[in-house]
Amino acid sequence: MKILVSGGLGFIGSHTVIELYNEGHEVVIVDDLSNSQIRTLNILEKLTGKTIPFYMLDCTDMGKMEVIFKSHQFDGIIHFAGYKAVGESVSKPLEYYFNNLGSTIQLSRLAIKHQVPKFIFSSSATVYGDQKSPFTEDMPLGITTNPYGESKAMNERILTDATLAYQGFNVVLLRYFNPIGAHASGLIGELPSGIPNNLMPYITQTAKGKREKLYVFGNDYDTVDGTGVRDYIHVVDLAKGHVAALNYNHKGIDTFNLGTGKGTSVLEIIEAFERINQIKLNYEITDRRPGDIATSFADCSKAKRLLGWEAKLTIDDMVRDAWNFEKRL
Ligand code: WQD
Repeated sequence: MKILVSGGLGFIGSHTVIELYNEGHEVVIVDDLSNSQIRTLNILEKLTGKTIPFYMLDCTDMGKMEVIFKSHQFDGIIHFAGYKAVGESVSKPLEYYFNNLGSTIQLSRLAIKHQVPKFIFSSSATVYGDQKSPFTEDMPLGITTNPYGESKAMNERILTDATLAYQGFNVVLLRYFNPIGAHASGLIGELPSGIPNNLMPYITQTAKGKREKLYVFGNDYDTVDGTGVRDYIHVVDLAKGHVAALNYNHKGIDTFNLGTGKGTSVLEIIEAFERINQIKLNYEITDRRPGDIATSFADCSKAKRLLGWEAKLTIDDMVRDAWNFEKRL
């Protein structure tokens, strides 16, 4: 199949492009490079042995996007493009809503007009808010604590309404838990711009000496050791989940959790990172980060049952591959 991948040079998008080619699909990438680098395209072409059509543009630009749809008949769209920094979304809500909702609306209009039969949307466990884990897809959406999370929930509602109104527009919502790690080659991985918001890139940059120390945001949660518990999933497993979703034959809209079903605490991640990579991490326990929840992990039995997909890589694989990428930078 020929697949349009928006945000295809980003962390999850780039790993998914590789898995799409591994399964014999053809890819066209659209990316505005606001949170990615053009060098990633060269690396993807090297890793896949393919010349990958790439358009540097903003998905909200309907005119320019229309030109692409006139040059290619797509069998599917995987929509990753969107701003994703939780803290930044609080200070720039209008940019986040305009970009994250506008890009989804424009791509959906193009998919409907050009009869693209499959639309996969990059959603997030953040839409569950602070409910009790494990999260199941039939749970009501929770209260999100920031415009980034809210834009994910709004996009889910927009896509749901669009599938009800337009026959032939079929959507799969993939709710990611916490993607970490990197491709085994060490050539692509997580490249946050500026100070990392997320735990794993902050750990690897601290290990590299780019950050003086890691701050552990609170150890007074009601968890195994007081630190936050999350469902970390290897980015390669997550990428394979998108390929499985492409092969899922259904009408209308359906939702899947992409996680491992296991919760791991911050201190457990630190222990695994130090043990696997033989590195002593400099860290300090500080106050909780506003908006954080204590525990988040998935029930991902539905993806196993209906997509035939489940995560296979371990926390040790994740911390090894994350460091293998960072140390090459
Ligand atoms: C994980 C744990 C922190 C940094 C967010 C978004 C989600 C998705 C992934 C985009 C928590 C702790 C973190 C640090 C720390 N977004 N932590 N020190 O908040 O679960 O999810 O990122 O794709 O939609 O909500 O991920 O990596 O920021 O935090 O102690 O420097 O690590 O408190 O317990 P989070 P995270």
